[in-house]
Amino acid sequence: MIPAVRGTRDILPGEVEKWQRLERVSRDLCERYGYLEVRTPIIEREELFAKGTGEATDIVQKEMYSFVDKGGDRVTLRPEATPSIVRAFIEHSLEQTLAFPKLYSIGPMFRYERPQKGRYRQFHQLDVEVFGVKDPAIDAEVIDLAFTLVRELGIGDVELVINSVGDHVCRPAFDKALVEALGQNVSKLCSDCQRRAQTNPLRIFDCKVPADQPIIDALPHSVDYLCAECREHFEAVQRHLTAAGMPFRVSHRLVRGLDYYTRTTFEILGASLGAQNALLGGGRYDGLVKQLGGPDRVGIGFAVGLDRMVLAMPDQPPERGTNGVFVAAVGDDARDAAIALLADLRRSGVRAQMEFGARGVKAQMKRADRLGVTHAIIVGGDELSRGEVTVKDMTTGDQAAVPRSQIVKFLASGLRPQVPQP
Ligand code: HAM
Repeated sequence: MIPAVRGTRDILPGEVEKWQRLERVSRDLCERYGYLEVRTPIIEREELFAKGTGEATDIVQKEMYSFVDKGGDRVTLRPEATPSIVRAFIEHSLEQTLAFPKLYSIGPMFRYERPQKGRYRQFHQLDVEVFGVKDPAIDAEVIDLAFTLVRELGIGDVELVINSVGDHVCRPAFDKALVEALGQNVSKLCSDCQRRAQTNPLRIFDCKVPADQPIIDALPHSVDYLCAECREHFEAVQRHLTAAGMPFRVSHRLVRGLDYYTRTTFEILGASLGAQNALLGGGRYDGLVKQLGGPDRVGIGFAVGLDRMVLAMPDQPPERGTNGVFVAAVGDDARDAAIALLADLRRSGVRAQMEFGARGVKAQMKRADRLGVTHAIIVGGDELSRGEVTVKDMTTGDQAAVPRSQIVKFLASGLRPQVPQP
């Protein structure tokens, strides 16, 4: 046997129904908020992420699946969707063709991380992005969309955490303050943090090394270094969240692991998830579109970790009857009639199955039972010559003859056929 690649998983029947519900609710909700679906390729040029996600990030430094293709191009399996969606926004001039560039996308992402519960090498995201809106009310809208998604899926015990990391005006002063506050302590930090202090001091907040934490906890907070405009923006976001009834906590450690963020950053954490507790995360990226060669347009969005959502979603009892009905043929002579009935049922929108190969009625009923169908429709014998079939209610075990002409209508109308008492 050749096993699946480490960090990748098969999502099998039994679990996949939860995924289908999650994807259905995600799409419904995005469309309700006015977001349109976009699908971008899974592979992109490596430089898109080096430039977009950021050279100093762990993703670009350590986690990308990059390779040279047969034509000699360096390509990467996307580790996140934001740079791809920004690329598509620029490449297709979407601000001209769409009335409102509010986009969402669902699909797999790839990061070479150490697999554990809630962390995989192939994982899945719902990504939501808006372009061209500076108003802090859009920050509150995307956070509200994220919050509502979590709530509509019945995930309780979550916390919304927000922060502001400033912009190109005030960030340089904060970076300087970080380096000054670190002072001699830089040499006591892990090698990654020593590199971060040189390349992008903000990234030090991503550090998970326990020995570094007391030093990091004592560092200055970005909110204390915001310029007047960033401060006003952050205050407005908080006011809007409060007005919309969304409780939140401000965390100065929430700088997020990607380089493009400006101003608002946010995450929703799930208490049931253990170490990998971020259900989703996002923020503003006001310089990214321009940096990737587009017009000077602001942006904001977030990505939901769908694998983690599935872990946090409560189980729902399967709805009875979702497996439809089973058509059983008695003897070879009845098979054509059974096949015709099966086709009629399916064309009328009824879920229906039958057995293949020459198998006895007993074996067919065993299959019907395992499938959990509501009714078995037994075709054959004398009933068939009278234009009737036998309907067995699989819950009660009652069975009776019903006219063939009525059975499709009954089932297609969504009604359980009332099995007449014999
Ligand atoms: P991110 O925080 O890197 O942000 O990922 C978003 C979410 O994806 C995380 O909160 C987590 O739920 C999930 N996730 C990340 N890595 C893994 C993994 N290895 N296994 C399972 N789940 C994972 C972004 O990707 C940004 N593009 C979000 C964004 C959109 N910001 C603005 N727009």
